[in-house]
Amino acid sequence: MTLRAVVSGVGHYLPRRVVENAEFEESLETSDEWIRARSGIERRHFAGEGETTATMAAAAARAALEMAGKEAGDVDAIIVATSTADLTFPSAATMVQSELGLRTGFAFDIQAVCAGFVFALANANALILSGQVKRVLVIGAETFSRIMDWTDRSTCVLFGDGAGALLLEAQEGDGTAADRGILSTDLNSDGTHRDLLYVDGGVSTGTTGYLRMQGNQVFRHAVEKLAATADTAMTRAGVTAADIDWVVPHQANIRIIQGTAKKLGVSMDNVVVTVQDHGNTSAASIPLALSVGHARGQIKQGDLIVTEAIGGGLAWGAVVLRW
Ligand code: ACO
Repeated sequence: MTLRAVVSGVGHYLPRRVVENAEFEESLETSDEWIRARSGIERRHFAGEGETTATMAAAAARAALEMAGKEAGDVDAIIVATSTADLTFPSAATMVQSELGLRTGFAFDIQAVCAGFVFALANANALILSGQVKRVLVIGAETFSRIMDWTDRSTCVLFGDGAGALLLEAQEGDGTAADRGILSTDLNSDGTHRDLLYVDGGVSTGTTGYLRMQGNQVFRHAVEKLAATADTAMTRAGVTAADIDWVVPHQANIRIIQGTAKKLGVSMDNVVVTVQDHGNTSAASIPLALSVGHARGQIKQGDLIVTEAIGGGLAWGAVVLRW
């Protein structure tokens, strides 16, 4: 028997305010046509009053718990992947713990920018496989609208806010690729690329700062690194692209999603795409896409899924799991 981290619930929260591309035409030299053509984005959600990284994360967590038929008290650990925690500290995860009315177990954040959810899944898997926890909430939640420079058309049209959550539970499997749960993980980072994508604020500046990105340079790394990490994770899981039911990629740009699918040899019919409706929600994008893909009836129990993401750091990785 092999221990597996199996998804028993999924949920998400999107802010009430929806902003269409055309709204940016009023304040910036840009167009709906440019944004759609270069990124695939049509609209995004921006957090408003009362909507923060922690409140959205807690709402997504509640939805995942409800689907699993579990209470907050059944959870041993909460991991929040985010680069936009409401405060420098305490962690967003402890705020979620408090929002859920929990005073037991432990909670912490993981910060790997857009790759954060993949890093969080890999760490949650390790906690389950080592026997330290039985049930863990893995959440991706972001309010990137609060680190946007609204005068920079090359970044502010690309990002959005939201949260998605999975409940992972320890279950016994046979140790084969037919098992439900996380089958393999692959994590990577290369800090020499920090200038390609960063926030120009923090404790060293005394400001929150704004996101800065050399988008076309990040783009150059994206397809190659995403396909390579997905390939590595699939090899580790003992599966091939032909076995994959769904690729659930980080939703940054439709051209990156298409390029990576092509390189992996997977049809776009087997890719969950939400970038048109959410924009790039960084660490929230994969759990949002998993939740929306499940709600649309695309993702079903037993499906073989590969998730992959790249972001600031650079940091990138992939997880293969059977739903
Ligand atoms: N409207 C109109 N024109 C624009 C806009 C805009 N909103 N933004 C940029 N342009 C212009 C540029 O100024 C440039 O003009 P120039 O040729 O006169 O200099 C031209 O469009 C082309 O710019 P590029 O940056 O070369 O355009 P590109 O085709 O690369 O698309 C984009 C830009 C969408 C940012 C793309 O590069 C991308 O998606 N990159 C990857 C982003 C990503 O995956 N990030 C990683 C995750 S994010 C995270 O970790 C937080």
